[in-house]
Amino acid sequence: MRPTYQVTELLGDGIGPELSRAIHSLADALPICLDFRVVDFTLENRRARGSKVYDEAIESITTTGVALKHPTVTAEESPNAVLRRRLDLSVIHRPVYTIPGVPTNFRRELDLDIVRIATGGTYDDPGRLIGDDGAVSLRIVERKPVREAARYAFNLARKTGKRVTSASKYTIQKATDGLFEAVAKEVAQSFPEVPHNSELFDALLGKVIMAPEKFQIVLVLNEYGDFLSDMACGLAGSLGIGASANLAFDASSVVRVALFDAAHGTAPDITGKNLANPTAIFLALSLLLYQLGEIAIGQAVKNATLDLLREGVRTRDLGGQESTETFTAAVAQEVARRLAPAPPEG
Ligand code: NAI
Repeated sequence: MRPTYQVTELLGDGIGPELSRAIHSLADALPICLDFRVVDFTLENRRARGSKVYDEAIESITTTGVALKHPTVTAEESPNAVLRRRLDLSVIHRPVYTIPGVPTNFRRELDLDIVRIATGGTYDDPGRLIGDDGAVSLRIVERKPVREAARYAFNLARKTGKRVTSASKYTIQKATDGLFEAVAKEVAQSFPEVPHNSELFDALLGKVIMAPEKFQIVLVLNEYGDFLSDMACGLAGSLGIGASANLAFDASSVVRVALFDAAHGTAPDITGKNLANPTAIFLALSLLLYQLGEIAIGQAVKNATLDLLREGVRTRDLGGQESTETFTAAVAQEVARRLAPAPPEG
């Protein structure tokens, strides 16, 4: 029997239904069973049923532990902000890598996993004026979210055989960034097989540009993660074709819920035309598979998608001829081929 996992799927707007069909076709090609619990998260249903839709989503995600979210229109409220608040999603894992076919000014290959503490830093306090000539703001670093993010980063490294770099300004922000680095080192001790080093954040930015192959998983505080993600996306030329994991933790810093989504929006201009590029939602599914512990299948989904793009099998937004359906069929076939059991010898 194929292993079965329950997954909450939040149906979205615009190209959301096309992406959902693509995900189900790809899931059918996997050697495991993803049992989708579907929540109608369309604008129409959110308007009709209000907070009940959110209650239903939270209940389902809390039960299944993992969720895939399709893009949604931000109208009265931002569904992403509501989910972040209600599920206490405090860490963001944003892989950023070169996507074949996406034009970029950067000639090197980039493959970074940015693990960002999504609370605190300088972002929780807008600051205040002191008289007319000065202003101050608080910089907040707490042991708990740093430990959660660090444990996630090191677990990911253990599962994928990668190294972890923690980056901050610990020589200047001695108390705050010093605490961050101390917690990272503490967590590193429980993962002796994972290589770990610290970098000053400003130096890291230069080194990622000069020698991107030296960096794999980068653990950072809130604002540094914000800066690094945008710089890396700029280098990869792929602000829209990425995916993220949004994570919440239990009291022992173990992932309690993980919500995966594509970076792009609902693409109203191409809705219903079979033109949507499902790359980002496939990459989100690959992250979800990593979270389920199905590393080989997650890697097959990611690598088959990227290799097909490299070979020129692309949708029109990337200069190709494929439709959503033909691109999806190609990826599903390639994933199934890569995961097929080897024929018996002799
Ligand atoms: P958008 O990302 O939907 O579209 C920008 C451009 O990229 C459009 O030309 C679109 O056709 C293209 N595009 C986006 N995704 C594509 C895909 N998978 N395949 C091919 N082409 C694609 O951004 P926009 O127009 O600013 O926002 C539209 C709606 O999406 C808004 O209501 C916004 O609130 C919502 N949105 C939702 C997000 C989410 O749920 N995570 C994130 C960003 C925007």
